[in-house]
Amino acid sequence: MSNFNFHVKPIGLFDMLHFKKMVPARQQALACGSADPVTGVYGSNKLGDRLHPKTQRLTIAEVIEHGENAKSFVLTGEQLAPFRAGQYLSVSLKIGTSILTRPYSISCSPKWALEGKYALTVKRQPDGFASGWILDNWKVGDEITTSGPEGTFYYEPLRDAKHVIGLAGGCGITPFLSMAYAIRDGVEDFRLTLLYGSRKECDILYHSELAEIAKATDKVKIVHILSDEKKDGFEYGFITAQAIQTAFGGEPCSVFLCGPAAMYAFVDKEIDKLNFEGKFIRHELYAAPASPGKLKDYLGDAEKRFVLTVKRYGETLTLSMAASETVLVALERAGVSAPSRCRGGECGWCRSKLDQGEVFLPAYLDKRRMADVSAGYIHPCCSYPLSDLTIEVWPE
Ligand code: FES
Repeated sequence: MSNFNFHVKPIGLFDMLHFKKMVPARQQALACGSADPVTGVYGSNKLGDRLHPKTQRLTIAEVIEHGENAKSFVLTGEQLAPFRAGQYLSVSLKIGTSILTRPYSISCSPKWALEGKYALTVKRQPDGFASGWILDNWKVGDEITTSGPEGTFYYEPLRDAKHVIGLAGGCGITPFLSMAYAIRDGVEDFRLTLLYGSRKECDILYHSELAEIAKATDKVKIVHILSDEKKDGFEYGFITAQAIQTAFGGEPCSVFLCGPAAMYAFVDKEIDKLNFEGKFIRHELYAAPASPGKLKDYLGDAEKRFVLTVKRYGETLTLSMAASETVLVALERAGVSAPSRCRGGECGWCRSKLDQGEVFLPAYLDKRRMADVSAGYIHPCCSYPLSDLTIEVWPE
């Protein structure tokens, strides 16, 4: 001890005396406290449940048709959770014997939630299982169950530039429509230049609504780009690096993308040419592809079938599963309820323990924590079987 040479100043001495008393004071306070279990609900928990409900029960109040293959559904409910423009709701569905979810971007202004309503827009996907069923079956008066608002595809002033270039394709317009409404209504404060790619003018969703918003605020600008039709008042071609550069004009900007996988594949290469910093490029979720067969690193045989053993709520189920489908799809198809939200590897709701077997998880969808990877957890929404599997699934 004599080798240490330090001085305790008077004020430091007081600190040490205070610290010395702190432990017995806390022990005394703990001894006086009640050991009864906490009953009732804390206000903070109540607020948490209100802002982030696990489920919401909603009624379809109105159906708005957009041509033959797309509809908007106005949904009403009690005390709806508020949302950020760009977020989605995960819709729970029962189709035949299948139990499944699908995420759909909220397409209205965030102000609507305060008035007890949301809007979702659904477009029929070729070979889609859920979208066609929704369009053909949902009607006014039906009750549906959704998650609370989810997702991170929204404007964040701490991270994003004040000018956002939105790149939209097809139904990928819906989160941008919500952002445009939010800017018009004063809920969000940034400038949005939207490059919206469609095949033909008749394929443009929300054409007049977007024009009205652009008229109401100079913070929103819309550029329509048609790939299959040359028309006055529309750009012709695709969303290229040149088109993006013209839109941002050299000032700092963030680029947000939402559209089909084919659009991402093309537009990502165009964005690469512009050398943006990574944090300024934001993608809405990539859904796992219907089959891994064409993915670059896939070394399995998508034609094979495997056995999936599921340990769940104390019981064990055995299912047959195609190598071409994700583990989540196999569960849903068999009518096994399993937690999920984004279906693109991001949210972690479907996180499950892989006890046995091997899966293929495409690198671009693998957003697991490193600890989860080393402990053998997978995200079934984007994991394709490479062998027979045994997994543990937990309730939500
Ligand atoms: S459902 Fe979101 S990670 Fe699987």
